[in-house]
Amino acid sequence: MGDSHLPHGRVVSQSASLRAASIEQQIVALLDRMSLREKIGQMAQVNAAGGHVPDHLRDAIREGRVGSVLNEVDVDTVNELQRIAVEESRLGIPLLIGRDVIHGFATVFPIPLGQAATWQPAMVTEGARIAAQEAAAHGVNWTFAPMIDIARDPRWGRVAESFGEDPYLTGVLGAAMVRGFQGNDLAETGSIAACAKHFAGYGASESGRDYNTTNIPENELRNVYLRPFKAAVDAGVATLMTSFSDLDGVPATANTFLLRQVLREEWRANSMVVSDWESIRQLAVHGFTENDRESAYQAATAGVDMEMASTTYADHLESLVKDKRVTEQQINTMVSNILRVKFRLGLFDNAHTDPSRFTAVADPSHLRAAYDAAVASAVLLKNDDWALPLHADELSSVAVIGPLADDPYEQLGTWIFDGDAAHSRTVLQSVRDLVGDRATVEYARGVQTTRSTGTEGFDSAVELAARSDVVICVLGEEAILSGEAHCRADITLPGAQDALLEAIAATGTKVVLVIMAGRPLALEHTVKHAHAVLYAWHPGSMGGKAIADLLFGVVSPSGKLPVTFPRVTGQIPIYYAHKHTGKPATFESFTHIEDIEPRAHQVSVGNTSFHLDAGFTPLYAFGFGLSYSHVEYEHLLSSSAVMTMNGRITFGVDVVNAGPRPVDETVQLYVRDLVGDVTRPVKELKAFTRVHLERGERRHVEFTITPRDLAFYGRAQRLIVEPGRFHVWIGGHSNAELRTEFELVDDHAR
Ligand code: BGC
Repeated sequence: MGDSHLPHGRVVSQSASLRAASIEQQIVALLDRMSLREKIGQMAQVNAAGGHVPDHLRDAIREGRVGSVLNEVDVDTVNELQRIAVEESRLGIPLLIGRDVIHGFATVFPIPLGQAATWQPAMVTEGARIAAQEAAAHGVNWTFAPMIDIARDPRWGRVAESFGEDPYLTGVLGAAMVRGFQGNDLAETGSIAACAKHFAGYGASESGRDYNTTNIPENELRNVYLRPFKAAVDAGVATLMTSFSDLDGVPATANTFLLRQVLREEWRANSMVVSDWESIRQLAVHGFTENDRESAYQAATAGVDMEMASTTYADHLESLVKDKRVTEQQINTMVSNILRVKFRLGLFDNAHTDPSRFTAVADPSHLRAAYDAAVASAVLLKNDDWALPLHADELSSVAVIGPLADDPYEQLGTWIFDGDAAHSRTVLQSVRDLVGDRATVEYARGVQTTRSTGTEGFDSAVELAARSDVVICVLGEEAILSGEAHCRADITLPGAQDALLEAIAATGTKVVLVIMAGRPLALEHTVKHAHAVLYAWHPGSMGGKAIADLLFGVVSPSGKLPVTFPRVTGQIPIYYAHKHTGKPATFESFTHIEDIEPRAHQVSVGNTSFHLDAGFTPLYAFGFGLSYSHVEYEHLLSSSAVMTMNGRITFGVDVVNAGPRPVDETVQLYVRDLVGDVTRPVKELKAFTRVHLERGERRHVEFTITPRDLAFYGRAQRLIVEPGRFHVWIGGHSNAELRTEFELVDDHAR
C-alpha cells in the first residue's frame, strides 16, 4: 500500500507487474497450442486415491484430462502425479494439488473462529505460513482456505471455520490468512495458493442448517457478506470457491450476478473460480437446471473455471462449444484463469517437491506458534471474585473433570485431515506438568463423551470434586459436533454435561469451567454454576498447555469474542451490528414473561423489539473478553468535530491498566452513521489495535478515520459516502460507553 510511494516500492511493484505481463504472454502462447479437449481437461479437478496412482488417473493425466487433483498428501505420490503431467502429457502442464488446510496441517492451530478471537492479523498470517510450509512439504500447492463467510447463526456448524459475524474483522483476518498462505510471492518455496470461500452468502443458510437456501437482499449482501471477499481479492487471493447454497433463487455456482457482475466486472478480479464439491452437478438437484449438460452450461456461463469432483464440464462442454452455446473465447478465459495460478506458483519451472527443503512438521517452532495462538484465542468470559488465576502453591488438591480434559484428538476441532493428535498436549497432562508435586492432580471423566446422557460417571466425579480444593471442568463439544454438515438446533451444552456441572457445583468446591467448542454455545444456564469460565474453542495441538498456563497465570487471557454469544438458541440471529428498528428495545420498556398480568390487554403503543422470555441483550457481546487485570478507558478526544470529504479525523483515548497484572488489551473503535440512504447498523467496527500495558501503565491510543471508512452501499447499490452525523465509541468491547461524535460535511456542495 504505502510502499508504492517509495522508490524501493516502485521497483518491487514494477518487477511484479513485468512478471504478471510475462505470465499473460506465456498463457496466450500455451493456449495457442492447446486443443479444445485439452483446455476442458484443465477444468477438471479429480479426487485422489490416496497413496498411489490408479491406472484411470494415470491415463487421464497423460491424456490431458485433469487440471487438478485434490486430497493427495503422500509426497511421493504427488511427485509421481506431477511427473506424469509434466513428462507424459502432450503439453506438460503441471497439476494443482488441492487440500483443505484450514487451521494447520500436522501442527493444528485453533479453529479459525478461535484464531479470530485473537484479533491479531499477524498471528493469523503466521499460522497460515506454517500450515502452508507443512502442506507444501507434502506437495500440496493449493488450500481451500480462508473461509470468510459471515456467520451470524451459530447453529450452523461451519461457524467454526469462519472468522465470525463481522465483515470488517473477517476481511482483515481473511486477508491476513491469504498473505500467510501465499507469502510475498506464490513461486517461493513454502507458498501455496489460497482460496476465498464460499462465494457467497453461505453463512445465511436458513435455520443454520448446512447447504440450506439463502435469501439475502442485495444491499445486505453488498454491505455484509461480500465485504470480506473484496478484502481477499484486494489481498491478491489466487482463487475463490463458489458456495453450495442457493442465493435468492439462483445457486451461487451459477450466479452470474456474483461471478460476472461483482467479481469480474466491478472488482476486475482475474482469480480462478472453482466450484464446490459437485456443486455444478447439484444445480439440477436444486431444480435450477434440467440435467448435467445444462448445469455445465449455466456454471460455465456464470464463470466457474474449474469443476470440483463432478464431471459435467468433461462430459458436456465440448458439445456445448460445438453447438455454439459456449464460445471458445469463454473457454479461453476460463483456462487462462487456471493456467495463471499454475504460472504464478512457478509450477512450470519446477513441479517436483523435495521434502528435505522444508522444516519438519510439528517442529518445535511450529508448536510454539500454535501454543501462542491457543493462548491468544482463549476468551475469559467470567471470573467472579478473581477465581482465576489459580495459585499452585496455595492448593493441595486439584480435580480435573470432563470428557475433553484429556482427549488429544477432540481438542483439534473440525477440518483436521492431516492433524496429528500425537503432537497434542491435553489439559490434564499440562496441569500435571505445571503443578508438579506441589498438589495432587486427579482426573474423573464424568461423562463418556460430550453427547452422553448416561450419569454413571457422576458419583466418582462428584466425590473427587468434594475432596478437592478446586475443580477444573473441561466440557463442550467434541470435534465432530461442528464443521460441515454438523449443525445443531439447540446449542446448549450437549448430553448430560449441564447436569454434571450442577452436581459438581453443589459440592461447594470452586469450579473453573473450560469450554472447548466449535461454536458459541448458549450458556445462560451453564455459567451460573461456575466461578470462572474460559472459552477455549477447539484450541488445536497445544491447547492443553495453553489452557493450563492461562488457568495458573503463567500467561494472561487476552482473547475477545468475534461472535455474539446468545443467552438461548431462540435469540439467533443476534449480532451486534443490527439495525435500530422503529421500536428499539430499552430496559425500561422490556417486560418479562412472568411480569405480564393474567388476561392482560393487547396494546401496541409503547412496545419495543424484544423476546418476552429472553430480553434483547446477548449473554456476552461481540468484542468482549476479560483479563486478569482491569482496563479503563478515559479522555476520548477527536482532532476535529467536522470531517470534510477528503479529510480525516484522529480519535485518541487513554487506556489505563488499573488492575493487578500486566495486560494485553484489544482496543476497538465503533461508528454509528445516524441517518442513511438505507438504515445503518447501530454500531460498526471500524478499527482495532492491541496494546500491552504494565500494571498501572497508561497509554494513549489513536485511530484515524477517513470518509472511505464510512462508505456503504445505498439504495442504488453503489458505494456511497454520505454527509451527516456519526457517533464514535472506543473501548474494550462492542458495548463500550465512552462516546464522541463528529459531522461529515460535503465541502464541495457548499
Ligand atoms: C466443502 C468445501 C471444501 C471441499 C473440498 C466441500 O464439501 O464445502 O469447503 O473445500 O468440500 O473438500
